[in-house]
Amino acid sequence: MIEGVTFRPPRPEELADCALVWHASVNDYMSRLGHPLPPPVLEPAMRLGEHLLATDPGHFRVAVKASPGGRRDRIVGFGIGLQREHVWFLSQLYVLPEEQQRGIGRALLSLVLPSAPEAGSADAARDGARGSAAFGRRPGVLATCTDSAQPISNALYGKLGIVARMPVFNLVGRPSSPSRLPSLPQGIEAIALEPPELVSHRNPAAPGKSELRQTIDAIDRDVLGYAHQSDHDFLRVQGRTGFLYRTSTGEPVGYGYSSQVGRFGPVALLDETLTAPVIGHLMSAIEPRGATSVWVPGANDRAMVAMLRAGLRIEGFPAMFCWTRPFAAFERYLPASLALL
Ligand SMILES: CC(C)(COP(=O)(O)OP(=O)(O)OC[C@H]1O[C@@H](n2cnc3c(N)ncnc32)[C@H](O)[C@@H]1OP(=O)(O)O)[C@@H](O)C(=O)NCCC(=O)NCCS
Repeated sequence: MIEGVTFRPPRPEELADCALVWHASVNDYMSRLGHPLPPPVLEPAMRLGEHLLATDPGHFRVAVKASPGGRRDRIVGFGIGLQREHVWFLSQLYVLPEEQQRGIGRALLSLVLPSAPEAGSADAARDGARGSAAFGRRPGVLATCTDSAQPISNALYGKLGIVARMPVFNLVGRPSSPSRLPSLPQGIEAIALEPPELVSHRNPAAPGKSELRQTIDAIDRDVLGYAHQSDHDFLRVQGRTGFLYRTSTGEPVGYGYSSQVGRFGPVALLDETLTAPVIGHLMSAIEPRGATSVWVPGANDRAMVAMLRAGLRIEGFPAMFCWTRPFAAFERYLPASLALL
């Protein structure tokens, strides 16, 4: 119980308020560090909120206070988790600066967790996530991504065993030396994923829609640990263009996405030696209008080396991937974003 604060699912018209809470809470500590955020662009956060409200309505909660006139609730915080097979991922948790350190973040977190692991028990958190029954014998995983400059979130999740394990760097820019990125090797072809119906219409050798989905699911389970078609569909609607990479005999070796607005990823590869050529292909096949922005996990050394040598630069503080137990082969993966892997 926190005085004056109640918790409930959001109303669709409150997604813009949630995006404003996100901006205010991040801008507060980034300003103190000398890196204030630019004015908010709410649209992408609202679209992601809509997507997660559709896929995970039970894992999206807002903290509200009654406004002085009592006519409209004021959103003071929100939390969104998403469940994909055996992995639960905390996508977002934000509380207005003036309401922080009162227990609102902890309360939201406990409401959006898949089951309620005993607070403070890393073992309970490790073993408590739903999933082992529904998805074979794979034990449940709790995971998230934090800002390395934010002690409160790292402490809050760390107490549940969701400990920061791996840096994730933001590489930004246009390749100043694109020739440093190798071409796809002979025998590897790229098949456009979007839209799958048209792809099979144009090219009879291209896989059909359901075959394509099964192929992507298999790559995702191998690399990321779980399949997430609903997120692929969302990313395509949001303007990301994807390719399936396969051998000339039709063996899939991975997939990758980029976009004209410069958002890059996800990229998942079964063969990590293809990392630099696939990045090179994506960067030449889809030319962004401005800079490209990529999130590179520290474990993906091949992507880091290729992009730095091509001329992209590290921006800001690294983020941190946190988990109760390992679930993904991050040396072969580049996420779509920090809120939706
Ligand atoms: C992170 C955030 C959501 C937490 O919400 P909150 O309402 O402030 O958090 P709570 O008051 O519920 O809990 C904070 C906990 O962190 C602990 N904490 C704070 N600073 C700490 C530190 N430096 N070391 C260890 N523990 C710390 C508090 O003691 C408290 O733990 P307790 O409940 O066991 O006493 C909020 O601070 C926020 O929005 N921060 C800015 C945005 C952000 O970083 N969001 C997370 C994105 S992943």
